[in-house]
Amino acid sequence: MESIWMKTYEGKRRPALTGITEADAVVVGAGMAGILTAWQLEQAGVRTIVLEAGRIGGGQTGNTTAKITAQHGMFCDAFIEKKGEETAGGYVRANQAAVEEYKRIVREEGIDCDLIETDAYVYSMDEECLRREMEAARRLGVDASYEEHVEIPVPCAGAVCFPHQAAFHPLKFMGALAEQLTVYEDSQVVEAEEHLVRTPEGSVRAGSVIFAVHFPFINFPGMYFARMHQERSYVLALEHAGRLNGMYIGSGKDSFSFRQYDQYLLFGGMSHRTGENRDGGCYERLKEAAAKLYPESSAAASWSAQDGVTIDEIPFIGRYASSQPDWYVAAGFRKWGMSSAMVSAMLIRDMVCGIENPYAGIFSPSRFSAEELPGLALEGGKAVQGLTKRFFNIPGETAAALERGRGAVAETPQGKAGVYKTEDGRIFQVQAVCPHMGCELAWNPDEGSWDCPCHGSRFDCEGNLLDGPAQEGIQL
Ligand code: FES
Repeated sequence: MESIWMKTYEGKRRPALTGITEADAVVVGAGMAGILTAWQLEQAGVRTIVLEAGRIGGGQTGNTTAKITAQHGMFCDAFIEKKGEETAGGYVRANQAAVEEYKRIVREEGIDCDLIETDAYVYSMDEECLRREMEAARRLGVDASYEEHVEIPVPCAGAVCFPHQAAFHPLKFMGALAEQLTVYEDSQVVEAEEHLVRTPEGSVRAGSVIFAVHFPFINFPGMYFARMHQERSYVLALEHAGRLNGMYIGSGKDSFSFRQYDQYLLFGGMSHRTGENRDGGCYERLKEAAAKLYPESSAAASWSAQDGVTIDEIPFIGRYASSQPDWYVAAGFRKWGMSSAMVSAMLIRDMVCGIENPYAGIFSPSRFSAEELPGLALEGGKAVQGLTKRFFNIPGETAAALERGRGAVAETPQGKAGVYKTEDGRIFQVQAVCPHMGCELAWNPDEGSWDCPCHGSRFDCEGNLLDGPAQEGIQL
């Protein structure tokens, strides 16, 4: 299921890294965060190499809705409550600066990427909550307003508007920046050691190593697996659904996201923790909702994406771990990947160049206070559940009795295994054990994939790796 970005843009092929090379910095990952960080570093005179396991923008960036906004849902009031006004204000200002930086780069570099300036809205049924959010946003310096009428056909009491945000075609933008960079594709980093990273056929020695990899895959140091999980959500590109001027997100778990691109209305929702979609039906439910809201519409494309969520919902941007002072990380963007990627690029550029950045403390991966530690225990608890299932859960069905078109962890003649039976009766059997840290995988009927509930790694029915933090596939 290809996104409209992938359908409408073909990036230039890059070679894989071979041999030994050197640079001032090496960036691992060529998603939006990796490309932007490398570009900002190069602009600052830091010679940078980017290593990408697949293709540029081939991961989550190719599946984003590409809203560039500092409005991350209904969050201002809650962030002030949780983190205090200074931290919440810094978070908003860092993201607003990121929005402006996109506009500046597109303007000054003359990039043709369908960038539009537009307003961002968060809608809700709760008027009191909306009014509190607007007041909180204003206290944080945003020129926010309360709008009673919205242009989307959802029941709501109104929306809070952040003016002058933006949206674009992410792959066109990245492709233009990547033209100015040294990027190696099909170059998965298999080992990192101080200032040296290795790929299957080459290595880079660099003063700084930046992991812009969506979910940090080096477990020690850092232990990011204990303080992040991943969530998936689904998108339809609707035709014949009218035209929207603004971008919208609902508050609350079962709300929707709206954004116009060209003739398509991008309609998203059905979020869930990765690995917790055993019953499936996310695309169907989203299509039913679209049919109710836009009876004339039809879906020209559908796709899904996932993103990391940290325990306090603020991304991890900064030093990877105190024991590795020249390693940096950018992850946990909570589905606000465009603005967060630019925040990462500007912040890591400053850290590498020894420039003080006022937002460093807010995003620092080592920021947690004693009050936030219970969240760590919660993430750890989920992982323990996944491990416990692997060892103690007895499968409820057998491979022989499994219906066609279904997948499940089942009893087989070889013991417990992940079994998928196609509609025409072919059977794919895998070890349903995640190579990242050993949790039991669960079948995701919407994507036809084996997903890990612990930290969100994913594999296709033949065991090939789709998403990390795992770095290898599972055995067929
Ligand atoms: Fe960590 Fe599967 S992703 S155990």
